[in-house]
Amino acid sequence: MSPRQPLLSFEVNGRPVSLRTQPLRRLADVLREELGLIGTKVGCNAGDCGACTVLVDGAQHCACLVAVGQVAGRRVTTVEGLARGGVLNRLQLAFHRHGAAQCGICTPGMLMAASELLARNAKPDEAAVRDALGGVLCRCTGYRKIVEAVLAAADGVAQEADVTPAAGEAVGARLAKTDGIAKLTGEERYGDDVAPADALWLRAVRSPHGRARFSIGPLEPLQRRYPGLLRVLTAEDICGQNRFGIYPVNKDQPVLAEGVVRFRGEAVAALVGDGATIAQIADEEVPIRWEPEAPVIGIEAATAPGAPALHAGHPDNVLVHGLVRRGDTAAAFAEAAAVAEGRFETAFVEHAYIEPEAGYARRLRGTGGKDRIEIHTCTQSPYMGRDELALVLGLEPGQVRIVPTAVGGGFGGKLDISLQPLIATAAWLLDRPVRGVYTRPESMAATTKRHPATITARFACDAHGRLSAAEFHGDFNTGAYASWGPTVANRVPVHATGPYAVPAVKATTRAIYTNETPAGAFRGFGVPQAAIAHEALMDELALHLAMDPLDFRRLNALKTGSVTATGQKLAASAGLLACLDALAPKWRAARARAEAFNASGGVRRRGVGIACMWYGIGNTSLSNPSTMTVGIDREGRLTLYNGAVDIGQGSNTIMVQICADALGVAAGKFTLVAGDTDLTADAGKTSASRQTFVSGKAAQLAGEDLRRQILRLANVGPQAVIALEGATIVVSDGGVRRAIELAKLPLRANGDVLSGSGHFDPPTTPLDENGQGAPYASYAFAAQMAEAEVDVELGTVKVLRITAAHDVGRSINPTQVEGQIHGGIAQGLGLALMEEFIPGRNENLHDYLIPTIGDVPPIETILIEDAEPLGPFGAKGIGEPALIPTAPAILGAIHHASGVRIRRVPATPDRVRAALLAAGRGGAADAAGSTGGTRHD
Ligand code: FES
Repeated sequence: MSPRQPLLSFEVNGRPVSLRTQPLRRLADVLREELGLIGTKVGCNAGDCGACTVLVDGAQHCACLVAVGQVAGRRVTTVEGLARGGVLNRLQLAFHRHGAAQCGICTPGMLMAASELLARNAKPDEAAVRDALGGVLCRCTGYRKIVEAVLAAADGVAQEADVTPAAGEAVGARLAKTDGIAKLTGEERYGDDVAPADALWLRAVRSPHGRARFSIGPLEPLQRRYPGLLRVLTAEDICGQNRFGIYPVNKDQPVLAEGVVRFRGEAVAALVGDGATIAQIADEEVPIRWEPEAPVIGIEAATAPGAPALHAGHPDNVLVHGLVRRGDTAAAFAEAAAVAEGRFETAFVEHAYIEPEAGYARRLRGTGGKDRIEIHTCTQSPYMGRDELALVLGLEPGQVRIVPTAVGGGFGGKLDISLQPLIATAAWLLDRPVRGVYTRPESMAATTKRHPATITARFACDAHGRLSAAEFHGDFNTGAYASWGPTVANRVPVHATGPYAVPAVKATTRAIYTNETPAGAFRGFGVPQAAIAHEALMDELALHLAMDPLDFRRLNALKTGSVTATGQKLAASAGLLACLDALAPKWRAARARAEAFNASGGVRRRGVGIACMWYGIGNTSLSNPSTMTVGIDREGRLTLYNGAVDIGQGSNTIMVQICADALGVAAGKFTLVAGDTDLTADAGKTSASRQTFVSGKAAQLAGEDLRRQILRLANVGPQAVIALEGATIVVSDGGVRRAIELAKLPLRANGDVLSGSGHFDPPTTPLDENGQGAPYASYAFAAQMAEAEVDVELGTVKVLRITAAHDVGRSINPTQVEGQIHGGIAQGLGLALMEEFIPGRNENLHDYLIPTIGDVPPIETILIEDAEPLGPFGAKGIGEPALIPTAPAILGAIHHASGVRIRRVPATPDRVRAALLAAGRGGAADAAGSTGGTRHD
């Protein structure tokens, strides 16, 4: 605080505040950095995401766009001002009970926007809620439960009692998030909320070129000019291996580039110093001499004859091939009654989690001369990150501790390490805490995306509609570095047929290097792109045979006992038929409604589409283990040590529900230690929809293990009832009652006296040279139906309703399962209609569009519980399955409405209009009668 700065006085949450600061500072920064009010979250610093929404004199404002000088003499209300005396207000309670906060990073902004609404309109309708909350983006929830919560708060129904399941009744209960309260009060700490006040700041300097050679000149002059600049890291400063990547054989990405950059946004240096200095230095001041070269953009250019090889060992720029082959496709196509084929294209898609990458690192003195590095960061993969950072820092894995913060959305994008090696290297070398946070443009330019795909496929069926053959080839643009390219290339061929029995299959893929943003993991690992192709072709075949699209899918659906394209016999849970049967009456009614609507003519045409999906849970043909432990200490505290990072999907709650019922103790008795690599066992990464199935099973086994030990100590039978009563466990078995005094039991290293452990690695087999084997132990199935309206003059598409039937095995927590489905559908809607990341063009959240609260229609969810025998209490996974069928269902609805099939997504108005014009259907008269027709674009 400088005495020369003006004194500003205003009110925050009813308290007067006076401070000396620059009047032009962002209010968000002052609230967070000066006043410690970290509940105001910064997602973009540009007024696009609304996460930092606060009230100024009762009106909504993005605190990142308000200069603190503008609030002098005014009232500011932040999320910290909502609860009174530690008691949540009715709006916060409604959010809690309706599951309206998933990751929670948007929640403060949502709460403030809703508070403003309720203050001026005590009884809003849904339209008013959507209008008032329209400036705040949420990437997790699909907004539906947020709308529900605001309406419930207005109605006063939020005053209902909490769901507090009794012992043995947690699985299946709508338990509110066990870690949910902090997300509602502003106390939750994300990656940018945890650094100590004395931490140095780090900022990366990035390439403005997609492909270039470069050299860095002497750095001393820059450091002399800026005394606050303590270090400029370059590739030479990386202590260990300057390479990282997901697979041991494909670690091809440097932490800091070495003389060559392969994509725009690649880091070449990092500035470390005090925050003001780091912010002041322009990238152009760093003495870098660039020699730009023509970048290789797109799959076609990368695979053209003579294209420059971007990586040694890959002269054709093909990173990896994938293959599944079964039966004689040539013979089957020759005998087919109908064949449908097509070429499909998808774009880069940005994860657009509202929390940019952030964290801090510090070096800790160790014993025996072995110092340690501790990294607090938002991550989906603490153990994988620990091992990567050990390699980069040249340390043993045990010298690295990852302490995950709350994660403000991930969706696959926080599986790869990002700023962690930079802040860790800086902290290690300077022996000072170092923090960093990516700007929104930096986050979008530098981190992974969904793979753009070019897919050609054809399917054949007999005269009765039974599928007989499929040929599929997918090229996936993996960008400059491998990341999860091999995973996508291997997963897609397995799923290329869709969830249908096809006796003859040839499915091939390639992951291809280009000079574009690395593509990595994003909710579905290539399966959403493949589903766009196979579902369009299912529709085409049904049309050829004049069959109903739902009936066609039902005829071919995989079911228990079916053999997949990899030769795997589905031994148990495969609930697609049940999903389709649940949709069937709604489907027929919706088709009839659309046809009735269209009969009146006009440029707005309605259609209904359907799409199915299947998804192998967990890694493809790889070991996929998880370990969980649960312990009781001498005071009777029951703790689940849960290494499965909760990125908003709710695994912290799900694991407790499962473990509680396995142990036979009420869920409310549990405390949780989550994700710290020093305190929890490795539960694997939060990806591939695996945590409920794999880690949930481990949590069940841990609970059962502890229960066995307690029953053995009490010498009672398996039906005994366990009760925790302070420092005593009371075990009752019929008329027998035994007490276990915890203080008398020997103490373990972590302070517990009893401990149960569970380990689960789903049984899979490797795929052979023809892609034959059992790549997954369990598959989720789903069918979704989309109702949409197309303006055939403008090419605009409005989705009116989605009905989603999902086989989840067992719904551990219906509120959370519904939330996952809503969120997946919103992302699928974005994939279908609006999301296309173009490197260098739309690296922000006003040019890159994601669905807002106004874009997501009502969603009806139907949960099918076809129990998976391997899963915890029968559960499978839902994270990725929720997204996969949405885009093809919407594209099917567009076709049903307008008669044109869009084969390149997103189906933006210009593309839809161009397709309509190409098909001669650009007006009401042209489109009339298209519903249910057989026209093609
Ligand atoms: Fe809204 Fe995660 S809960 S962004």
